[in-house]
Amino acid sequence: MKELAREEDQLLPFPIYRKLRESTPVRFDEDRESWDVFRYEDVHRILKDPATFSSRRGLEVRGETLLTMDQPKHTHMRNLVNKAFTPKAINDLAPRITSITHDLLDQVLSKGQMDIVHDLATPLPVIVIAELLGVPSKDRKLFKDWSDTLVKGVEGNSQEAFAKMVAERDVAVRELSEYFRAILAERRSKPEDDLVSALLEAEIDGEKLEEDEILQFCILLLVAGNETTTNLITNAIRLMTEQPAIQEQVRTHPELVKTTVEETLRYYPPIVAIGRVATEDVEIGGQQIQKGQQVVSWVGSANRDPDKFEDPDTFLPDRKPNAHMGFGFGIHFCLGAPLARLEGQIALEILLSKLGDMQFTKSKLSPIPSPFVFGVKSYPITFTAR
Ligand code: HEM
Repeated sequence: MKELAREEDQLLPFPIYRKLRESTPVRFDEDRESWDVFRYEDVHRILKDPATFSSRRGLEVRGETLLTMDQPKHTHMRNLVNKAFTPKAINDLAPRITSITHDLLDQVLSKGQMDIVHDLATPLPVIVIAELLGVPSKDRKLFKDWSDTLVKGVEGNSQEAFAKMVAERDVAVRELSEYFRAILAERRSKPEDDLVSALLEAEIDGEKLEEDEILQFCILLLVAGNETTTNLITNAIRLMTEQPAIQEQVRTHPELVKTTVEETLRYYPPIVAIGRVATEDVEIGGQQIQKGQQVVSWVGSANRDPDKFEDPDTFLPDRKPNAHMGFGFGIHFCLGAPLARLEGQIALEILLSKLGDMQFTKSKLSPIPSPFVFGVKSYPITFTAR
């Protein structure tokens, strides 16, 4: 989006969202040939109506996944994976998430400084998802490299750079598929207590997932779950170094960690925009959208809409209710939300209890170069050991 061309605006896009929400709440951007929608009410209406606003975006380089399916296929697939991705399966991970977080922090504690992104927020979700999927620890490095390649954006604006990214992703998807195929074969003959075994067993009305569907799903978890969780943890710490009073308030009142994570998802959401395609002519906010046109719902703007949230530009660690759309809304509501919340809560609680007086080490911040993502590439801090 041309309004967000400057890096400093990508580092803090919310004033621009506000201007657009107030001046052109629903507008067509000729450059991107896409509609942009900024108000809470309109975004909510779009995400609530998957028949009119399809997720089959056509840009997908990785084949069809849950994220890009429509009903009824989506419902069927989602019910099947829900059988494996249960709240209990997620809650059982809490002790492991806690111990991984302690291990990662113990490596930097005596130094008095760390990079939140590299030392904690990136490795934590990768290790957790690898364990959840049953990837042996000896393969962790391989796994992380594939996962990085899958979420890496385009470097530069050229056609060649885009082609290079697509080619690299294709290789990573092929290698990951080969790798998971071997794991699937092992679990088929000898089931274990992991997600892959549960996916193999999941069955509805006598129907099971096909091998290729399980492979696609495992890859989707990496793409959808890792960078987003990294940015949730980093964005929470960024906020707490920008507003030290909040850091101290939550440190002395750890019972606020839960609502603080929710408020981070509202105020600094890792995903700020969600794409759909209109399946018929439809009117939104007085504008006529035509069948086949792209529609981008700016969740990062909707989450700051004063018609929905009182004092929207103030971060309230105890905000309640908090109907943010940081995990989307409707049938595609984030499947990994319970896991992301758990990781965010555990990471934040342990960070605040082990590290005192976290401060941003003034250095140039680089935004993640995607208009759909809100996050930074690294976030160095200093702290005192507690
Ligand atoms: C869907 C955000 C973490 C797996 C979504 C959507 C959003 C989102 C906004 C909806 C997309 C749409 O409507 O088109 C986030 C954020 C996360 C996070 C902000 C971290 C803070 C995770 C994790 C996993 C995950 C940890 C898995 C391990 C998925 C999947 C979908 C999804 C599979 C597709 C669901 C469907 O289409 O039915 N996520 N996500 N996410 N997310 Fe997450």
